[in-house]
This record gives sequence, C-alpha cells and structure tokens, in this order.
Amino acid sequence: MKFFIDTANLSQIREARDLGILDGVTTNPSLMARENIRGHDAILTHYRQICEMVDGDVSAEVLATDLDGMLTEAAELASVHKNIVVKIPCTAEGIKAIRSLSAKNIATNCTLVFNTGQAVLAAKAGARYVSPFVGRLDASIRHTRHIIDCMEAGAHVVTCPLKPILGLLDHPLTEKGLAKFVEDARKMI
Ligand code: E4P
Repeated sequence: MKFFIDTANLSQIREARDLGILDGVTTNPSLMARENIRGHDAILTHYRQICEMVDGDVSAEVLATDLDGMLTEAAELASVHKNIVVKIPCTAEGIKAIRSLSAKNIATNCTLVFNTGQAVLAAKAGARYVSPFVGRLDASIRHTRHIIDCMEAGAHVVTCPLKPILGLLDHPLTEKGLAKFVEDARKMI
C-alpha cells in the first residue's frame, strides 16, 4: 500500500518524506488556504515546491467547478510538474473533465467520493485515483486504526495527515521492550 500525506504544509511533508516511506502528497483547497497560499502564481509555485520535495504523485485540486474552468486549470496545473495529478470533484461536470483529461493523458484524482456508484463512474471516466473520504463517512481516517482498516480492505493508497502515520509506530510493547534494551545496553558499555 502506498502512503500519501494529506497536507499542503511543507514542514509536515518534509518530516514525512524524511521517514523514507512517503509515496506522494494530496492537497485540497482547504489545505492550501490553511497555508495562506493566495493567488494564481503562489498556488503554482507552492505545488512546484511540493513536487521538488517528494518524488511521487502530488494531487493538486482545481478551484473551478464548471467544465471549461476545470479543463483550463487542469492543463496549467499539469504543466507545473510531471508528477502533478489533477484533483477533480465527483460531479457530472467533473466526470466529463476526467474523461477529457484522461484522453489527453493528464492524470486525475476524483475527489469527494462517498459511494460506490460515484467511484465506478470516476474509474470508468479514466481517473487514476478515486478518493473516498473515509474520514467523513466514519469517524476519521485521521485515526491510526482507520489506516490499518484500509490496509486490510486492500486499498492501494491511504492519504492522511502526519499524526496518524506516526501513530502506526506507537505500541506499548515496543516502548517497553526498548526501555529494557536501553537499560541492558548500559551494562555492556
Ligand atoms: C483527500 O484527498 C482529501 O484531501 C482529504 O482526505 C479530505 O479529508 P478531510 O475529510 O479530512 O477534509
């Protein structure tokens, strides 16, 4: 399973990348706004910076909701870097946009998916990724347990903030065992 980090925060992306397990990044307009990214040039520059930090797919979402607007933005986003995947909302206009972008070999991630029908339409239209928002359907994938559930369900990718990824490493027996090893290591020095 691939691990993507769901944030536009460069220091969180760097921290996840430095763990050596990061496969990509997903963002959305809310995450970009949280980082105070404002204006056309700043948006493209920010995505370029993310692509230079992580060697993997970087999902960048369109802001428009009409077909022409989404296609124009998608072409511009895709020109930023070869790893950009254009995130498109799961609407009728979005499905048309995914179909059209797929024909032009522009990779897409269909976002705001909440049921199987939406997922199948997005896949049929040619989306590279279909993103069900598990965190909004059930408690939250922000919790480490949900990442494990996704692994067990056979998801190809999980995307979530840094905290639940780090949470995968937490186990009381690991902590307890390490404390004992550290204690015994002192006897050997
Ligand atoms: C995924 O690609 C989205 O950016 C993200 O999962 C939205 O998650 P939220 O429900 O935590 O806002």
